[in-house]
Amino acid sequence: MNEQLENQFKHVAIIMDGNGRWAEARAHTRVWGHIRGSRIVSEIVEEADDLNVESLTLYAFSTENWSRPLLEVKTLFSLLKKFIKKEKKRIIANDIRFKVMGDISALPDETKSLIYDLEGLTKNANGLKLNFAFGYGGRDEIIKSVNCFIKKNPGKELTKEDLSENLLIPEIKDVDLLIRTGGDMRVSNFLLWQIAYAELYFTETKWPEFKRSEFRDILFKVNERERRFGATRKTDSLEENESKAEENLRYISDSSSSVRGN
Ligand code: IPE
Ligand code: IPE
Ligand code: MG
Repeated sequence: MNEQLENQFKHVAIIMDGNGRWAEARAHTRVWGHIRGSRIVSEIVEEADDLNVESLTLYAFSTENWSRPLLEVKTLFSLLKKFIKKEKKRIIANDIRFKVMGDISALPDETKSLIYDLEGLTKNANGLKLNFAFGYGGRDEIIKSVNCFIKKNPGKELTKEDLSENLLIPEIKDVDLLIRTGGDMRVSNFLLWQIAYAELYFTETKWPEFKRSEFRDILFKVNERERRFGATRKTDSLEENESKAEENLRYISDSSSSVRGN
């Protein structure tokens, strides 16, 4: 049985990057890299479930990935299909709620049916919320949300809550932890609204070499970070130093003081 994580992660998101470079470094095709990368997904899902993560969102195909060679795009489509076929029973048995977020209109009909079928079968599941971001772009999602709100509420001013409520999967919470494999440090149009206060973790490990043990270590490591959300540290007490703080405040209010002080 696993050591339990006092978990502050309601929502973990992963940019599964580095398949192509991993394969090219081994004189294989990028397609081979994706095939190998797809084998890792199940064990990471399993580990997230074991660690009681509420939602796991995996970035599998971005709106920008449409600009890749057709063969590579088709491979990514087939791998999604293969994943669903292979994992369907296990997803249902483990009470996992499966959803795909993004524009999947260009996927083959068979793959779309598999997606809708599994989404339907697991819609009342109470376990891990597993989301595949496929044909997904953060900017598209925000624009869609705004347009959807305007349509329903013409003339009304949009609030943060309204925007959140009209996202593709509104019930998943803000991202607590965003992991990117592959060594690049960018967010590549992923969950732009939801990562406003996410902890970020970048690892050099290319996705095909990512392991459940590294995933687990990251969660435990980042769990030690203090998330302050713009407030002061929990241990800081202004009261203890109140007279000193007041003195400092008088100093800046005194117009005769120079900016540099003395
Ligand atoms: C990530 O691996 C998978 C997808 C983008 C679908 P890449 O294919 O981007 O691999 P690198 O970053 O080129 O190594
Ligand atoms: C992000 O990786 C998209 C996915 C992992 C699906 P990319 O490889 O497409 O991102 P960039 O091009 O490095 O920003
Ligand atoms: Mg990449």
